[in-house]
Amino acid sequence: MPPEPAAPRFLAACRREPVDRPPVWMMRQAGRYLPEYREVRGQVGFLELCKTPDLACEVTCQPIRRFGFDAAILFSDILIPVEAMGMPVEFVEDLGPVLDAPIRLRGDLDRLRVPDPEATMPFVPEAVRRIRRALPATPLIGFSGAPLTLAAYMIEGAGSKDFVELKRFLWADPEAARRLLRLVTDTVVLYLEAQVAAGAQAVQLFDTWAGVLAPRDYDELVLPYVTEIVARLRPRGVPIIYFVNGAAPLLERMKRTGADVMGLDWRVDLGEARARLGPDVAVQGNLDPVALHAPPAVIAERTRAVLAAGGGTGHVFNLGHGILPDTPIAGVEAMLAAIRGEASGGAG
Ligand code: CP3
Repeated sequence: MPPEPAAPRFLAACRREPVDRPPVWMMRQAGRYLPEYREVRGQVGFLELCKTPDLACEVTCQPIRRFGFDAAILFSDILIPVEAMGMPVEFVEDLGPVLDAPIRLRGDLDRLRVPDPEATMPFVPEAVRRIRRALPATPLIGFSGAPLTLAAYMIEGAGSKDFVELKRFLWADPEAARRLLRLVTDTVVLYLEAQVAAGAQAVQLFDTWAGVLAPRDYDELVLPYVTEIVARLRPRGVPIIYFVNGAAPLLERMKRTGADVMGLDWRVDLGEARARLGPDVAVQGNLDPVALHAPPAVIAERTRAVLAAGGGTGHVFNLGHGILPDTPIAGVEAMLAAIRGEASGGAG
């Protein structure tokens, strides 16, 4: 077994350096499945929580304290910079984000600006600084929505099943589409740069809805912008994770973005994904989040299968999407025991 790495195992795995075991964190690891999170949320609304640095810091730390994950992720939401661009966002219980004046015509773009993060979202870098002080030994991941995913909310005004408004807009007025994606791309770069300047040690781009596009649309409307973001962040020196929900048909295209780590949902076989992606990129994922509801022995077996498919080096263990609010704590514990059990020599 390789020695305990000099770098924390999360950062080492992102760089495909040897690790004693794959690092683990969970998308949405701070959230409603945790009683201590529900306790805080009983006092304040979700957006207020995002915008109050000491509370955002507190809930970021909660899953680290309870489970000792190998990375922390900034507590915020992908819609925060959309609001700063000029579109007020509301979070409706059981519905998620709602924007009351979505982009439907090219003239609507005149309402948007590329916000200065320090001036319009000072609570984000401030939360990052506080988290770094509170968790000096745990790497901190900053994040942003990717352009197409943010544009999807801006045009639909909420989540969607078929994304008819999004596609209608993109195809009816390609020039306006490019203008919107340009504004969002510039916003994302400044936003992530501000998080890194404040202390974020890695960043994740969430492209939750890129998987709803046909490959030719991905090539035109996603790839150039994500590639540009990756290139512009390169000089900052932090690993870049690129998560797509519904990644299976898009793996080779995702790799062309130049991101360091490909974040994969659970619908793709991790071993096959590694074979298609090749050895020069790391992977993150991809246990089905619903598996945490299974009996402990099933969770352990499925966790070990993901670890085996991940191949050890260059694998960041994660769920294939965010943890669900009704997930039992015991399910998370069973997953972690399986990951840590391997490290204690049982696999050998
Ligand atoms: O991962 C983490 O723990 C960091 C915090 C984080 C949240 N949202 C907190 C949150 C992150 C990284 C996100 C990203 C996010 N937000 C995405 C991309 C990842 C994904 O899930 O695909 C998306 C699409 C959103 C938009 C969003 N925010 C939706 C659709 C919802 C409603 C669905 C839901 O789970 O309630 C939210 C709300 C939200 N974001 C909550 C949390 C903890 C729940 C809010 C609450 O406490 O009531």
